[in-house]
Amino acid sequence: MNGQNIKEAVGRKAVEVLVKSGMKLGLGTGSTAIHAVRHTGILLANGTLKDIRAVPTSFQTTIECEKLGIPIYSLNSREIGGKLDLTIDGADEVDPQNYCVKGGGAALLLEKIIAYASASFAVVVDESKTVQNLALAFPLPVEVIPEARLPVTGALENLGAEVILREAVRKAGPVITDKGNLILDVRFRRAVDPASLEREINTIPGVVENGFFTRIRPAVFIAHRDGTIEERR
Ligand code: 5RP
Repeated sequence: MNGQNIKEAVGRKAVEVLVKSGMKLGLGTGSTAIHAVRHTGILLANGTLKDIRAVPTSFQTTIECEKLGIPIYSLNSREIGGKLDLTIDGADEVDPQNYCVKGGGAALLLEKIIAYASASFAVVVDESKTVQNLALAFPLPVEVIPEARLPVTGALENLGAEVILREAVRKAGPVITDKGNLILDVRFRRAVDPASLEREINTIPGVVENGFFTRIRPAVFIAHRDGTIEERR
C-alpha cells in the first residue's frame, strides 16, 4: 500500500474500533488524523453514528468538520463541560512506551489541551513514526510567545539542544500558530527523558507548550506497508 492509503486505513480503523454514538470526541490534526475525521463524518452522515459532539484541535480540523457537517464545540461549551470521552490524533514520533512527539503541523497546543482533557487518547501513525528515542530524528516542537523567542532559544540550547525557528512556506517569515505564537524546533543530540523534559521545558518563561505527550498513554494504531494495522496499548 502507498503512504496515503495506509494513512487512510489507520485513520478509519481507529474510528471503527473506538468511536461510539453519544461520544464527546476530540479530533486531531494532520494528514493521518484527517482520515479519522472524514470517516467520522461518513458514519454520521449514513446514520451509523449518532449524537457525536466534536472538539477540533486546529483550524484545519475545524474547516474539515464544517465541510462534513460534524457538530463542533469548544472544550468550554456547556455540551462538553471541559471533558471528552476520546481523542484521536496523529503523531510525529512514538516510542516503545507510547510516549509521543507532536506538533509537526504546529497545532500542539490545542492538541495537548484536548488530549489531556480526554478519558482516553488514541494515536494513528504509519510505521515510519515509530522510534526508540524521541526528538533525535524529528525535532521537538516548542510553542513560544513571540517576545520570548531568543531567551527561550538560549534556555533550550543550555539543555544541550539545537534550536531552529520554524519558517513558513508560502509566507515570508516564521510560522504563526493558530494561537498567534512561534514554533521552535528542538533537536537533542542524545537520548533524553521525555516525561521529565515535558515538565522542565514548560517552566521556561515564554514557553506556551511543548510537543512531548507523556502524561496520558495513548492506544497507538500503527499502519504497516503490507496493509496490516497493529494496535499497541
Ligand atoms: C500536528 C500534529 C500531527 O498530528 C502530526 O504532525 C502528524 O501529522 P501527519 O499525520 O500529517 O504526519 O501533531 O500538530
